[in-house]
Amino acid sequence: MREQQRTTDQLIQELDALRQRVVDLERAEVERQQAMEERSRLLRELKQANERLFQAGIRERELTEEAERRAAEAEQALRLREEFLSVAAHELKTPLTSLKGHAELAMRRLERQDMRDPDQLRHTLEVIDRQVDRLANLVAQLLDISRLESGELRPGRREIDLVPLTRRIVQAMQSGTARHTVTLSAPESLKARVDPLRIEEVLYNLLDNAIRYSPKGGPVQVELGAPEKGLVRIAVRDHGIGVPPAQREHLFDRFFQASRRPAGGLGLGLYVARRIVELHGGQIWAEFPEDGGSRFVVTLPAGTVKEE
Ligand SMILES: Nc1ncnc2c1ncn2[C@@H]1O[C@H](COP(=O)(O)OP(=O)(O)OP(=O)(O)O)[C@@H](O)[C@H]1O
Ligand SMILES: [Mg+2]
Repeated sequence: MREQQRTTDQLIQELDALRQRVVDLERAEVERQQAMEERSRLLRELKQANERLFQAGIRERELTEEAERRAAEAEQALRLREEFLSVAAHELKTPLTSLKGHAELAMRRLERQDMRDPDQLRHTLEVIDRQVDRLANLVAQLLDISRLESGELRPGRREIDLVPLTRRIVQAMQSGTARHTVTLSAPESLKARVDPLRIEEVLYNLLDNAIRYSPKGGPVQVELGAPEKGLVRIAVRDHGIGVPPAQREHLFDRFFQASRRPAGGLGLGLYVARRIVELHGGQIWAEFPEDGGSRFVVTLPAGTVKEE
């Protein structure tokens, strides 16, 4: 009997122990699962941290590249400005020196009462007059640039006839050169909605280039037309030195000169022309015909189109 009681007690104890082990095992299993979850959470975090680190690396590289790019741009702008200042100073100084020389010459003649040859005095005064024009042009160009940059240059558009305006400029440019033949081919009338003074300036710049970059002379042809409804077109064609292909894309950039200044100038004419044409909602581009020279084309809104 006692023996049996002991066996029962023992069995109960063993059963308890077993139950306890099951509980322990279950707890261990729960803990294991929690540990696994924790592990995969940590792994996820590690992956995210890695990803962030990677992104930060990329971003840092991007920032460095951006900073380097900006520094290079600033340096380039600075260099351009310095170059421009020295070109501008030179361009202003040349006519000033000539003005001063000729004015002194005229004064000396007057003092010596050396007026026997009025043609000589006329020639001196003509040179002075030309140099004053040149200076005035340079100053006007510089003013234009600063107005363009500050957004102050707003075209006052109205409907005008482009034909007489163009004819006037063609005649004025022809009177300044004996070696070139400047011709105009145009319809009887061509209405455009533009700022006449600004468009005169564009035409002047294009014709000035056509003449200046045709040092051997020859024909310069201006053509007015209406290629499509709502548009007018001005084309200036020369048979001069043309522009090497590698330089063509920069023609309308500020201060750009394709060849190192054999002809003078600031490298602003085409830039100003482009800005003016764009302010009118038009387009300007250059073409280089097979048989040499250049053709600059401007399109502008026609007179019949209402202003925006
Ligand atoms: N018709 C042309 N034929 C050949 N090259 C041209 C012609 N027009 C312009 N170029 C080239 O483009 C450059 C830029 O022209 P742009 O009119 O802007 O300046 P520029 O004539 O040098 O000086 P600026 O017009 O300020 O007096 C010129 O220096 C020249 O090299
Ligand atoms: Mg020019």
